[in-house]
Amino acid sequence: MAVAPVSDTPLSLTVPALVLSDAFLEYRAEFEAHDEPQFWHPRRDEVFSAYVERLGRVSRGEEPGFVRVSTFWFLRGASLVGESRIRHELPPALAEAGHIGFAVRPTARGAGVGTRILQMTLEQATLLGHSSLLLTCDSDNLASRKVITKNGCHFLERVLSAETGKELDRYSIRLQRRAG
Ligand SMILES: CC(C)(COP(=O)(O)OP(=O)(O)OC[C@H]1O[C@@H](n2cnc3c(N)ncnc32)[C@H](O)[C@@H]1OP(=O)(O)O)[C@@H](O)C(=O)NCCC(=O)NCCS
Repeated sequence: MAVAPVSDTPLSLTVPALVLSDAFLEYRAEFEAHDEPQFWHPRRDEVFSAYVERLGRVSRGEEPGFVRVSTFWFLRGASLVGESRIRHELPPALAEAGHIGFAVRPTARGAGVGTRILQMTLEQATLLGHSSLLLTCDSDNLASRKVITKNGCHFLERVLSAETGKELDRYSIRLQRRAG
């Protein structure tokens, strides 16, 4: 499916829902076609309804072995163009992952979607009561670094990932609830 320029149709944010089955399966197929399997997408043997239920349990902190994570999907018209997630806690094992993850489908990149998705996700984090977040990305992921800094995150340091051995950039941001 051709994805229209971001300026044509505003992005809308939604939580994972069963009615988005067709949109999600088409979205996921594009990542697979580009050889970019996403850790958070359904397991091979997992049907869509079970996946949505699992994300719901994770968002309520009811999935054993997982910290609470809120997942958001972003639609342009009927097309799913990206996703993000907020980890509500960062135990040491997840410190390298940071509080927020985001991805844009390959054919929608380079048109401002990633920047807008992170902006909308930070708004959700504020509404969820977060006041300060840690974000990370591979140092060689220039697009991600730009998305993060364009959203007002402050560079903290470049470290060597204990998990991948690659350089990792760490950022922080303070969130402020708007008055009124
Ligand atoms: C990172 C990602 C979300 C960016 O999404 P996007 O929709 O392309 O982002 P934007 O269009 O808002 O672009 C933001 C900036 O990055 C630049 N950019 C986009 N793709 C780029 C690329 N491949 N190389 C270098 N710069 C790139 C854009 O030109 C823009 O810079 P500008 O503001 O100076 O013009 C997307 O590439 C993606 O999903 N990657 C795979 C998953 C991932 O890496 N997630 C982040 C994990 S921390």
